Amino acid sequence: MKTAKRLADLPTYAAAEVVALKRKLVAAGVDVIDLGAGDADFAPPDIAVQAVAEALKDPRMSRYGFQVGHVPFREAIARYMRRRFGVVVDPMTEVLPLIGSKDGLAHLPFAVLDPGDIAVVPEPGYPAYAGGVALAGGEAEVCPLTAAQDFLVNLEDLPGARRARTRLAFLNYPNNPTTAVAPAEYLARTVEFCRRHEIVLAYDNPYCELTFDGYRAPSIFEFPGARDVALEFHSLSKSFSMTGWRVGWVCGNAALIAALAKVKTYTDTGPFLALQAAGVAVLDRAEELVRSICARFLERRDAAVSALREIGVPADSPRATMYLWVPLPEHLSSAEFARALLEREGVVVLHGSSFGRSGEGFFRVALTVGPERLREAAGRMAKILEHFGAASAAR
Ligand SMILES: Cc1ncc(COP(=O)(O)O)c(C=O)c1O
Repeated sequence: MKTAKRLADLPTYAAAEVVALKRKLVAAGVDVIDLGAGDADFAPPDIAVQAVAEALKDPRMSRYGFQVGHVPFREAIARYMRRRFGVVVDPMTEVLPLIGSKDGLAHLPFAVLDPGDIAVVPEPGYPAYAGGVALAGGEAEVCPLTAAQDFLVNLEDLPGARRARTRLAFLNYPNNPTTAVAPAEYLARTVEFCRRHEIVLAYDNPYCELTFDGYRAPSIFEFPGARDVALEFHSLSKSFSMTGWRVGWVCGNAALIAALAKVKTYTDTGPFLALQAAGVAVLDRAEELVRSICARFLERRDAAVSALREIGVPADSPRATMYLWVPLPEHLSSAEFARALLEREGVVVLHGSSFGRSGEGFFRVALTVGPERLREAAGRMAKILEHFGAASAAR
């Protein structure tokens, strides 16, 4: 049967594709180390498990949540935003529970783009931005993130004619996959630019709690005027090791929240209420839970960075996220490297070009396993680099 052209034009989703490949290798007895998707092997917090178990006993939690969802979750979000960032949001009009932040990010273009409208999409970037824009029939303005520009999207660089048609811009700091963080002055300037040109700013902030070395990631609403144009996306996935639970939220401009909620009334009926109840439990103890998760990621980051440096790979030590964004020698294609690493050594990483063409020259390591396994993975990478004659080039 014929399927839609807009679907055929979308590349396959790299992190999802790996699942099938990995199953085959595991079935063949390969000891796979999966550093692909941003999905750490930590257990979810006990209090989340207890809260959901308790909630399941209440039959009201098995009903449709619709977009209002579990009101105590909205209130816990408002308390967290206030405590953590000093940002005040109205729980009923400036917050919307999401089925993971991906849900909101991918559906937002349906709420704000008309045919001919442009959305700024950073590249390399989280694939749901470009995917959502394409599915909604919008046009993407791809902004390459380069080391020379500290991996920042400079909206001021948009050509005038394109800028006039731009209605939406996705920004993500701390950034996946480059691990870059954004200076306050840059964020203030970007908010001001979006206000001046009436561009909706979708600030994707799922890594705000995974920060190291004293770095503190801000909310976009700490910058003047952001409430006029911005939505900020948050998630329980990474901060609390609850990826599969599919719970997140978006907060900010009330009219934009209402527009996104309207889209979602046609595509879903909200996150499972019992999981939103678990959200209340973790958000009310966020600071304490995040402290231990961050400490474990820090240990993994340090182990992986030293192991890579030991094999001659110049890995940077990121101040945030659960990733390393690792440069490859110039002559080696990232897809070729990742394929060989998986097929010959059973190590999954995402090749830079899976985040868009501008990601070429890098690969992404997710700190999903403990220090010992990360060191083992680096040892296997050394063999592949040697195979390509790249070990000395990387040094
Ligand atoms: C930048 C970014 N945004 C959003 C998400 C989505 O997270 P979730 O849908 O699990 O909340 C991810 C997940 O990897 C991500 O890397």
